[in-house]
Amino acid sequence: MTVLYNVLLVLHLLGWAIVFGGALAGMKKPELPAGVLHGILTALVTGILMVGLAESTSAGPDAINHMKVGIKLLVAAVATGIVVYGVKKPAKVTRGFLGGVAGLVVLNVAIAVLWR
Ligand code: HEM
Repeated sequence: MTVLYNVLLVLHLLGWAIVFGGALAGMKKPELPAGVLHGILTALVTGILMVGLAESTSAGPDAINHMKVGIKLLVAAVATGIVVYGVKKPAKVTRGFLGGVAGLVVLNVAIAVLWR
């Protein structure tokens, strides 16, 4: 289960990297690159699966910090909502919109790494 957990963590990090990189790459036009929706859904699903695995097996950290993961889930849900809106209404995608998506990813990276 540890291997599966670690594979999920790799996909989790790649997912957020795609969202962050995609949001920055789209700034020029501005537009939401197609991969951003896939990246955010990958990261959201892998994050939830990691919590499930850590709770039900010996994989992952000894104890999940539910407050931390709950806040991360909330931030990720808002980011996902914004991305889904942007995909449905491409004309509404502005630089501020993309900056908001990238900022929420940075916020969650900071929460993930700094809150221990
Ligand atoms: C914008 C959203 C998110 C970002 C940017 C993000 C980022 C990260 C980063 C950078 C790590 C590695 C931290 C480390 O190993 O020190 C991590 C780990 C993790 N994330 Fe996320 N995450 C996000 C959303 C979520 C969500 C929604 C969940 C679950 C509901 C989640 C669950 C986890 C778990 C379980 C770990 C592994 C912790 C460990 O093994 O110690 N993440 N995340």
